[in-house]
Amino acid sequence: MSGNDRIVSAVSAGAGEEYADASLRPKRLDEYIGQKNVTENLKVFIDAAAARGDALDHVLFYGPPGLGKTTLAGIIANELGVDLRITSGPAIERAGDLAALLTNLNDNDVLFIDEIHRLNRSAEEILYSAMEDYEIDMIVGKGPSARSYRIDLKKFTLIGATTRAGNLSAPLRDRFGIISKFELYTPDELAEIIRRSAALLATEIEGDSLAELAKRSRGTPRVANRLLKRVRDFAQVKGDGRIDMAITDEALGSLAIDKMGLEGLDRDILRLIIDKFGGGPVGIDTIAAAIGEERVTIEDVYEPYLMQAGFLHRTKQGRIASRDAWLHLGMTPPEKPESQLSFIGDAEGDD
Ligand SMILES: Nc1ncnc2c1ncn2[C@@H]1O[C@H](COP(=O)(O)OP(=O)(O)O)[C@@H](O)[C@H]1O
Ligand SMILES: [Mg+2]
Repeated sequence: MSGNDRIVSAVSAGAGEEYADASLRPKRLDEYIGQKNVTENLKVFIDAAAARGDALDHVLFYGPPGLGKTTLAGIIANELGVDLRITSGPAIERAGDLAALLTNLNDNDVLFIDEIHRLNRSAEEILYSAMEDYEIDMIVGKGPSARSYRIDLKKFTLIGATTRAGNLSAPLRDRFGIISKFELYTPDELAEIIRRSAALLATEIEGDSLAELAKRSRGTPRVANRLLKRVRDFAQVKGDGRIDMAITDEALGSLAIDKMGLEGLDRDILRLIIDKFGGGPVGIDTIAAAIGEERVTIEDVYEPYLMQAGFLHRTKQGRIASRDAWLHLGMTPPEKPESQLSFIGDAEGDD
């Protein structure tokens, strides 16, 4: 994805960052900030499973990148006191790769499959019986001598993560007992996350800087931590290491992140809708083609925040830039009443 090098990109920049992130990842449920809709129920299920000494039901996490899905999978394994194995849909090339992972699990272990919607067909089919009956059928050999072997698995928990639940096939989705949607974080929650991270990084940060960073983190903890680290670099090189408002402004200015946390591509999307389509409505495929990004990237990475910030609406007729979007870009909105269009909220994949 071409958005990887953006500072506000919620997509992890790769193994290096995943590793650097590890120190900031909460390890226990009570360190995990926000996302209460997800964690409150989960806590009950974890406690119940742990008390029974049983495996937790299979869990599906969905929502935009950078919101804490991988982190929460790690926390679940920690809280259950079991081992966590991590893989991802694209990493599993053959059904045999997945079979090898599954047969190596011990009782109640957690297998985390990131980007589970990208699992290939044959691997996905292995999962059906693995999830339902804790067994897999492997075919060994070819032609008339081919034989099918049934392999029993230990009782395990599969945690799948995906940017959207709608991309999963129904038979796979139906095998998850717990399906949780991740929401963007509020500025208050992000401020708490930044405060915690700053303490872990042994960096002093002033209250107004904290609030400013929270406001510009587009609802995403991964972005919040990334901004904090960049601002810390500025504080170290240009100041005395302490993060104050002057340093924060300078750092954010140099990163071209505006007051609302928007950067180039966010503004490009809004400007396109406003300049070329009079504010909309305009179809998502048209936007994707004009911007030169994939539709799913726009839908999963850019739009959730633009909508949360109130700059973009999804309607049945297409995307509309809000009055606030016009004003934010320094333009005068037309008198056209937005309210005449039927809103569909954040209905997935619609336009
Ligand atoms: N609820 C949270 N509380 C504190 N930090 C969080 C929380 N959620 C995410 N983070 C931080 O954000 C980073 C990205 O989270 P991650 O779990 O990798 O997101 P996802 O898997 O949804 O893309 C983590 O390294 C972690 O430091
Ligand atoms: Mg992840």
